[in-house]
Amino acid sequence: MQVQGKVAVVTGGASGLGRATVEALVQGGARVAILDLSDDLGHALARELGPATIYRHVNVTDENEVKAAIKDTMEAFGAIHFCINCAGIGSAAKTVGKGEPHPLDHFARIINVNLIGTFNVLRLAAVEMTKNAPEGDSGERGVIINTASIAAWDGQMGQAAYGASKAGVVGLSLPVARDLARDGIRCNCIAPGLFETPMMRGLPDKVREGIQMQIEYPKRFGMASEYAKLALAIIDNPYLNGEAIRLDAASRLPPR
Ligand SMILES: NC(=O)c1ccc[n+]([C@@H]2O[C@H](COP(=O)([O-])OP(=O)(O)OC[C@H]3O[C@@H](n4cnc5c(N)ncnc54)[C@H](O)[C@@H]3O)[C@@H](O)[C@H]2O)c1
Repeated sequence: MQVQGKVAVVTGGASGLGRATVEALVQGGARVAILDLSDDLGHALARELGPATIYRHVNVTDENEVKAAIKDTMEAFGAIHFCINCAGIGSAAKTVGKGEPHPLDHFARIINVNLIGTFNVLRLAAVEMTKNAPEGDSGERGVIINTASIAAWDGQMGQAAYGASKAGVVGLSLPVARDLARDGIRCNCIAPGLFETPMMRGLPDKVREGIQMQIEYPKRFGMASEYAKLALAIIDNPYLNGEAIRLDAASRLPPR
């Protein structure tokens, strides 16, 4: 689909990969609703980018908050064509750590934000997409892009919850694409390797160096703008559907 003149909702849009995608979409001529929990960052970004954006405080796990933000987006911009889910949180806890079992509430929280939150937003955005006029030869009405991680396949020690949540996001792509096929809505997910964002900046230098060793080429962390480029390429290409795409410079995570 063409980006120019369209409307997107981007969760986690105030920071990191989501923020870079918001910027790229606005640069491409779209209007964007930034949905996030980080109000200071979200308001600042909306101020910086001007009237092509709105910011709404949304916890992606909260049905009513997401419904309200979708309604506000429809009122502000009149349609929703793209839904990019970047909201997510990390985790680190072993299945048994120091003789204690992995806290169950911790496991549930990661699944709730990363997996259930993603599905919550995409299902509500998809309803609005079904109302769009079909575009182009294939009659497209919308595009959904979710964010998994290479931990969906290569989860490290301590990543049982995170890896499971991201494997769930990979697992969503095909059935959601099949569900929405007759409406002309595609669904794909990007599985990033290691990207230079606030989420990763907190890592100790030693851990960062260890991770960097696993990256083949280019031998550096990814840039958020490179995630955004792939998101726009997915939007652009009508034949890309139901897929999980690793964006990882050929890296494979080791056990630790
Ligand atoms: N950075 C990486 O190396 C990397 C690698 C693989 C996958 N990912 C995934 O990419 C996505 C974006 O990560 P990032 O690196 O940009 O992180 P980030 O921390 O910079 O951005 C994440 C944003 O999500 C928001 N958020 C968190 N929980 C939320 C909730 N419940 N509701 C609404 N917003 C919420 C945060 O406020 C933040 O602004 C995440 O899903 C992450 O798991 C990142």
